[in-house]
Amino acid sequence: MSLTLKHRSPVRAKISSVGTYVPPRLLTNADLEKMVTTNDEWIQERTGIRQRHLVDPGTATSDLAAEAARDCLRRRGIPATEVEVILVATVTPDMLFPATACLVQNKIGATGAWGFDLSAACSGFLYAMQVGAKLVESGAHKKVMVIGADVMSSIIDYTDRSTCILFGDGGGAVLIEPCSEGEIGMLDYTHEIDGSGANSLYMPGGGSLHPSTIDTVNAKMHYVHQEGGAVFKVAVRKMSELGENVLARNGLTPADVDLFIPHQANQRIILATAERLGLPQENIVINIGEYGNTTAATIPLAMNTALSDGRLKKGMTILLASFGGGYTVGATLLRWEC
Ligand code: COA
Repeated sequence: MSLTLKHRSPVRAKISSVGTYVPPRLLTNADLEKMVTTNDEWIQERTGIRQRHLVDPGTATSDLAAEAARDCLRRRGIPATEVEVILVATVTPDMLFPATACLVQNKIGATGAWGFDLSAACSGFLYAMQVGAKLVESGAHKKVMVIGADVMSSIIDYTDRSTCILFGDGGGAVLIEPCSEGEIGMLDYTHEIDGSGANSLYMPGGGSLHPSTIDTVNAKMHYVHQEGGAVFKVAVRKMSELGENVLARNGLTPADVDLFIPHQANQRIILATAERLGLPQENIVINIGEYGNTTAATIPLAMNTALSDGRLKKGMTILLASFGGGYTVGATLLRWEC
């Protein structure tokens, strides 16, 4: 296989380490059967989810993000003081401000870092990863910590069976650094946003349009609202479209993809997307059964699953794809270098 290198920056960026954290408490399908009218068979058949990890009260997104970042640094063998930038993708920041990145910076002791939060729902991790890669490729920075973390349980209505079965809490991080001689790292990406889908998946309350009041809380506007069927169809169509585009413009075919690591929203969305892309099932990473949809954390958690299973190895060509509220959609092509 020959790879055409799209971007001409003299510095190339790569993922040099991965770290993850999920809280220990489990919410199983059997637990949900006691909370709403649902059953394990329906949930597994329609979504592939068996369980989710949830935080205990008092644990916030910055706690999951900090643990994931610590794990990432431990595996890379460097102290937090070497981190230059911290990017946190999340839709469940600890507070509207300060940015969760500031809280993480303080928790891990990254005394030399600046950073900020990025809001792109389930595409947040891919978007933040590209921002991090550009900061490295520009020559401005050499160590960027990119984190995707969400405490979805803080914005889920556990009396709404159409959403409460889907989501879990978790955090994942990657370190972005310049490639060494002969390495390729980040190859290409394509991102799209489409605000015409804003009302199909959103949390209407608590922002400047509907500041929190007793009325917004009584109307449950502080929870996730979703038209599941509409989201399902657009997710499959757009992830496969962008995946196909990014492969084609780099002169690659599905046969060149060693591993497909998609956002984990619904196992049926993943399988339908892979089928449209012509990717064989054995090349797909699926761990939604264990974690549910952890929003910005799904892709680094899936990278970690593939690493632990020995399926993700240096030199592999990897396709990542995401879809989320916004709508936001992304596809990234890279060479795995760690
Ligand atoms: N348990 C049992 N039955 C349920 C249920 C649950 N948790 N949730 C919905 N149902 C019922 C519905 O009420 C409906 O019943 P009806 O036929 O009597 O009206 C039936 O199951 C089918 O509902 P439908 O919404 O058509 O199911 P679905 O197969 O589309 O699955 C989702 C629903 C939410 C799982 C699915 O649409 C989905 O995953 N959408 C995408 C969501 C997503 O990925 N969001 C994040 C994007 S990043």
